[in-house]
Amino acid sequence: MCYFLVSPSHEGLVYPEHEPNPNYSALNLMRRYRFLALLALLIGGAALSCKKEEESYEPECSGPAKSYAGVVKSVIQSNCVGCHAQYGTYTGVKNAASSIRSSIANGSMPKGRTMSEADKNTVICWIDAGAPNN
Ligand code: HEC
Repeated sequence: MCYFLVSPSHEGLVYPEHEPNPNYSALNLMRRYRFLALLALLIGGAALSCKKEEESYEPECSGPAKSYAGVVKSVIQSNCVGCHAQYGTYTGVKNAASSIRSSIANGSMPKGRTMSEADKNTVICWIDAGAPNN
């Protein structure tokens, strides 16, 4: 009884491998490798972002709220815009706010230079306050 129950489904599973479709195994292989590549990317990405978080700069955000027009714009102008022209406008900075924040916090930017703690605080605290156009 058990044999009859298992056997037909087993044959059903095995059958496609014998199909005379030359693309079948190549396609399967491609799918499998794409899946593995994605998995590797995910794991690698997770490991990288964990590492960056460990190196994260802790901003000191007490005191008055930072103003974009008042201070943030000129800090970004003198530290970033020479290499990133797109950060020359409020919209350009706002759109990239979270990557700007993490690149400053983990020290990868500004590339080849350092930024004073006061300047890091200005940009990071302003972003943490929602990057307002103030
Ligand atoms: C001397 C040139 C230079 C300066 C100054 C600079 N960057 Fe960059 N930035 C680069 C280059 C080149 C890349 C491309 C990735 C790389 O090579 O690390 C980059 C990449 C980035 C990225 C993409 C994500 C990343 O981390 O790779 C962000 C965000 C960024 N920079 C933000 C900033 C901010 C914010 C500043 C100012 C505080 C800044 N950069 C100053 C050259 C610069």
